[in-house]
Amino acid sequence: MPELLQVQIDLTALQREIDALAEISEQPAPVVTRVLFSEADLRARKFVKRLCGDAGLALRADAVGNLFARWPGKNSGLPPVATGSHIDAIPNAGRYDGVVGVLGGLEAIRALKRAGFEPARPVDLIVFTAEEPTRFGIGCLGSRLLSGALAPDKASGLRDREGVALEEWRARAGCAETALESVRLEPGCYSAFVELHIEQGPLLEREGIPIGIVEKIAAPAALRLELTGEGGHAGAVLMPERRDALLAGAEIALAVERAVTSTGSADTVGTTGVFRIEPGAVNSVPCRALLEIDVRDTQQPARDAALRQIEQAVAEICRRRRVEWNLQTLNADPPALCDAELVNAVATVCERLQIPARRMISRAYHDSLFMALLCPMTMIFIPCRDGVSHRPDEYSSPEQIREGVRVLAGTLAALAAR
Ligand code: GLV
Ligand code: MN
Ligand code: MN
Repeated sequence: MPELLQVQIDLTALQREIDALAEISEQPAPVVTRVLFSEADLRARKFVKRLCGDAGLALRADAVGNLFARWPGKNSGLPPVATGSHIDAIPNAGRYDGVVGVLGGLEAIRALKRAGFEPARPVDLIVFTAEEPTRFGIGCLGSRLLSGALAPDKASGLRDREGVALEEWRARAGCAETALESVRLEPGCYSAFVELHIEQGPLLEREGIPIGIVEKIAAPAALRLELTGEGGHAGAVLMPERRDALLAGAEIALAVERAVTSTGSADTVGTTGVFRIEPGAVNSVPCRALLEIDVRDTQQPARDAALRQIEQAVAEICRRRRVEWNLQTLNADPPALCDAELVNAVATVCERLQIPARRMISRAYHDSLFMALLCPMTMIFIPCRDGVSHRPDEYSSPEQIREGVRVLAGTLAALAAR
């Protein structure tokens, strides 16, 4: 490894940018909501593009809105090193998830530039489209398309809950001029990908360790379930006659809990995070329900066992309650293993900076899950208060963010020097 580069992180600028980005939200502060291609998401993209332009990076956007900001290297023919994350935010989110990896990644590059570092190969900052699944039910839309994990024709068929297709959203967002086929990148196009992110769990804070180095990302899956029963007057329809879609859904949500707690793995988790009913009137029997169910484990066999049990429960409950069902698997991805050499490279940077670090798994998914299909990948985690994430009170301190950016900058320097 070349000589250790001492970089100065401009924490004031970085925190100001994080706070300014948080103001761009569909809901009032402190809530951050930026659903894919919403007006807030488009404004947030503009904001980040301006910052990247100010930093002298060359910008490119692809046909699904993934943004690439490039710092050219001495040898533009070498596969670049990449970092990055996402700026979309689920409803009722906070300001750090994804953003720390994007704005922190940008600050790492600016700090390296200020220190006079000249990369041998290009360094890319990637802002991925829709890491969050809010609009289409499927997470990591941009990195799935980049890596080929999602075929363009499958993606074209995606529709949101209002029935608006991805193609229509791409047109509205102004990125429909090129076909989705053009998004795909070839394996080996990058020499490495390293994503900085908040932990979204309690371990680093609990153990007082400032940096986590990710060795594995858990296997995520998501199901969408449409239930159709029969509506009617809440006073007039007697109980034995009912085909109540909500009650079927309620039993299914409990069956999800039973399924994930009976796999024998303490790491299996299941969440019925979406549950909408129609018509939604107090004096009307619910005739339709839409559920979205998230199931994960670090071990794929345990996750898959839970999925099978949930499918069986759906069939049994719906037959018994005479409710029609349509169960769709939105995604069921394998876990991703991080590259051992890259993990060691980050650990070496931590040692040299004298920043304590531990190795860990990521229970949340990230675009890194799919970047692993293109190049060696790992992630750098920083603590977040009480392990809280996907909530407005999500918080990492400026000092915690600084340590993450220092480690990222050191890692990018080491990887881009050769
Ligand atoms: C990403 O936001 C996830 O749900 O893990
Ligand atoms: Mn998230
Ligand atoms: Mn995230």
